[in-house]
Amino acid sequence: MTLLRFIIIQILWAFCAKGQAPACEEPPDIDFGEIVSGEKLDYRESDKVQYKCNPGFSLTGPELITCSGKTWTPAPQCLAPCSITKQQLEAKNLFLSNGRRLAQLIQSDHTLGFMCSEGYTLTIPSVRKCINGHMDLPSCISETGKNCSHPPIVENGDITTFLEKEYTSGSFIEFKCQKFYAMEGQNISFCNNGNWTKAPLCLEPCAISVEEMENQMVELNGRANESMLQRVYLEHGDFLELRCKHGYALATNLSQSTFMVQCNGNPIVYPECKEIVCDPPGVVNGRFRPQRNMYRGGDVIIITCDHGFLIHNGHNTAECTKNGWLPPPSCSSKLHFMSYLA
Ligand SMILES: *[C@@H]1O[C@H](CO)[C@@H](O)[C@H](O)[C@H]1NC(C)=O
Ligand SMILES: *[C@@H]1O[C@H](CO)[C@@H](O)[C@H](O)[C@H]1NC(C)=O
Ligand SMILES: *[C@@H]1O[C@H](CO)[C@@H](O)[C@H](O)[C@H]1NC(C)=O
Ligand SMILES: *[C@@H]1O[C@H](CO)[C@@H](O)[C@H](O)[C@H]1NC(C)=O
Ligand SMILES: *[C@@H]1O[C@H](CO)[C@@H](O)[C@H](O)[C@H]1NC(C)=O
Repeated sequence: MTLLRFIIIQILWAFCAKGQAPACEEPPDIDFGEIVSGEKLDYRESDKVQYKCNPGFSLTGPELITCSGKTWTPAPQCLAPCSITKQQLEAKNLFLSNGRRLAQLIQSDHTLGFMCSEGYTLTIPSVRKCINGHMDLPSCISETGKNCSHPPIVENGDITTFLEKEYTSGSFIEFKCQKFYAMEGQNISFCNNGNWTKAPLCLEPCAISVEEMENQMVELNGRANESMLQRVYLEHGDFLELRCKHGYALATNLSQSTFMVQCNGNPIVYPECKEIVCDPPGVVNGRFRPQRNMYRGGDVIIITCDHGFLIHNGHNTAECTKNGWLPPPSCSSKLHFMSYLA
């Protein structure tokens, strides 16, 4: 089918090649899906094609793509469903939440609830999501299994349930991370026939000191109270809004005033804040003071125009900013100035 289409296009292309060149090439093929409308021999600017996924597959992204600026806007994807067999449910002592044991096909992004046979405890979460063909099934823990002793120790975390000498199979303990620590994994561990299921981890927070911020030429953006503190704590995964210190600007984008940094287990990566500097301006038909080789952000100069010339925009001062001298200092002739007014 695709080959035939290719051959036809090649033949017609040979005939039409003298015409206007098409704006876009053939739209991309996608796995587990096809183009259902808008297919042509050649494509012009703003042409659209529509995709559809095979039965059971779910489309993610835009259904329609557009030929724009000689390329196609990004094509959608078809995500696979999850299939669960009766045998899988039986082997894990699982039932569907309606109490039945039937084979299922679940679309990507959809969920399915589970329960266990009598005498078994279900591990959480009891509702599971299908993610592009993949779904982790919960487990059923036998309540007649071996007891567990010492519960697992979670560094920088606490057990919030009562401590016991022995725990029966199927019982659980709950954890909480200490302040500023972020939890990875489930907050529950089950006793499963003498062994504990995987305990969570408590991930280190980031502590950003005032010295570190000063060294990086950054400061907190509008959190006056916290700037009084010696350190700011940031949970793993969290973002903090910062800005460059006064007199500094973001090297990668001068017009951006604030930016985010993230705590992700590594040292925080800061963008470069560079000092705002201005060269002495060239003022034709005028002078300025103070005279220096170099000016810093916020420095102000006073401009005096030569006899017979007027300051251009009425401001006899200009400030060194990240965008250069503002307003741009210049002197224009009185005559010129009068003609403006006339
Ligand atoms: C398991 O623990 C429970 C409660 O802690 C206790 O009653 C029971 O005797 C224990 N079973 C065994 C086999 O040790
Ligand atoms: C454990 O997680 C559940 C749901 O995610 C929540 O309802 C419960 O409060 C949590 N327990 C603790 C001690 O944080
Ligand atoms: C419990 O853990 C031990 C050691 O890791 C292992 O040998 C044993 O098979 C486990 N028992 C069960 C019931 O999973
Ligand atoms: C700073 O903290 C004080 C008291 O701790 C509070 O009254 C004030 O509203 C806070 N200001 C800001 C900007 O958060
Ligand atoms: C620079 O920052 C401005 C303001 O945040 C933003 O509108 C612009 O898109 C940015 N430019 C680049 C090249 O990132």
